[in-house]
Amino acid sequence: MRVLSVVGARPQFVKLAPIAHAMAGRVEHVVAHTGQHYDELMSDVFFRDLGIPAPDENLAIGSGRHGEQTGAMLEGLELVFEKHAPDWVLVYGDTNSTIAAALAAVKMHIPVAHLEAGLRSFNRRMPEEHNRVLTDHASDLLLAPTDVAAEHLRREGLAERTIVVGDVMTDVLMQTRREVEGAALPEGMTDGDYYVATIHRPANTDDEENLRGIVDGLASLDRPVLLLAHPRLVRFAAEHGIDLTAGAIELRAPLPYPQLVRAVDRAAGVITDSGGLQKEAFLLRTPATTVRPETEWTETVDLGWNVLVEPTPEGVRSAVTRPQPAETEEAPYGDGAAAGRVVDALLAATR
Ligand code: UD1
Repeated sequence: MRVLSVVGARPQFVKLAPIAHAMAGRVEHVVAHTGQHYDELMSDVFFRDLGIPAPDENLAIGSGRHGEQTGAMLEGLELVFEKHAPDWVLVYGDTNSTIAAALAAVKMHIPVAHLEAGLRSFNRRMPEEHNRVLTDHASDLLLAPTDVAAEHLRREGLAERTIVVGDVMTDVLMQTRREVEGAALPEGMTDGDYYVATIHRPANTDDEENLRGIVDGLASLDRPVLLLAHPRLVRFAAEHGIDLTAGAIELRAPLPYPQLVRAVDRAAGVITDSGGLQKEAFLLRTPATTVRPETEWTETVDLGWNVLVEPTPEGVRSAVTRPQPAETEEAPYGDGAAAGRVVDALLAATR
């Protein structure tokens, strides 16, 4: 059996790592990179650090408006699928690379499997929400990370195509945590006495008032704030004349995955609008503050380890000064062996 994985953006490289390892020796695995993320620190470093073989195909599409970027992917992926004739196209998460790959594949009658199926924010202003919903409905096999995700799919009439496999980001996180045990912390940071922050959602970066509110909040915190700046954040802060080095903020480039895991593990808290990071914080039992009106990973909030706040200085401040959450043994994201189940499910569905 030949599986063709399509990835393009940073979180997808992290998800690809455990999948690529689980596929090895069991199925033929071809990897296509759309080139949505292309900087060394946004792309190459993940392949290197996580031991993922170099992509077999790289479309090098880069940035652009939604239609321009997604359209170029559709066109390029069609040729890649034609060349490799896969039995399955495997798509990841919710980016423009995900929807482009799913759409290109179904039009060519190639079965599509969606990893991380069934997540919903129910916020129709997020491009990712449309990418998820449309990809789920186009796909033949829905690989859900949690029971909550599977329930969303059931309500949309997709139960028959759904399997709960667990969360593959938990697989890679658990393994990486073991590997970086005892490794150095980011320069200038003292164990347990700093925050990690990432902000990149268009709703926060592109809106001047929201961005100013968040940055003012971070600048006023009681400990150093390691702000790992996504290119989108840097670009919009410059456009709006917002200083990303004010007060407590320590502005840094994005971290490679192992260093990020180490930094979050030893931080006093995380402030983010990323989907993945709030869950990674939970798995490492570091309290998270999510600057968004909703989350796809509701279990983190229900268990008390994640709080949703407004993009204001008070929002950011109130959440990071809250009491430590109660310990929990709950494991809503699985046992760290999801990737093997993904391969089992693909093999079973092919027979
Ligand atoms: C994308 C995904 C989002 C995901 C995020 C992870 C979509 C719609 N959004 O958002 O779901 O959470 O990736 O990071 O697919 N840029 C660079 N270098 C790079 C990549 C991007 O400078 O390597 C710049 C681009 O020029 C652009 C901005 O970052 O200005 C946004 O990149 P883009 O891939 O369009 O979306 P993200 O905001 O990264």
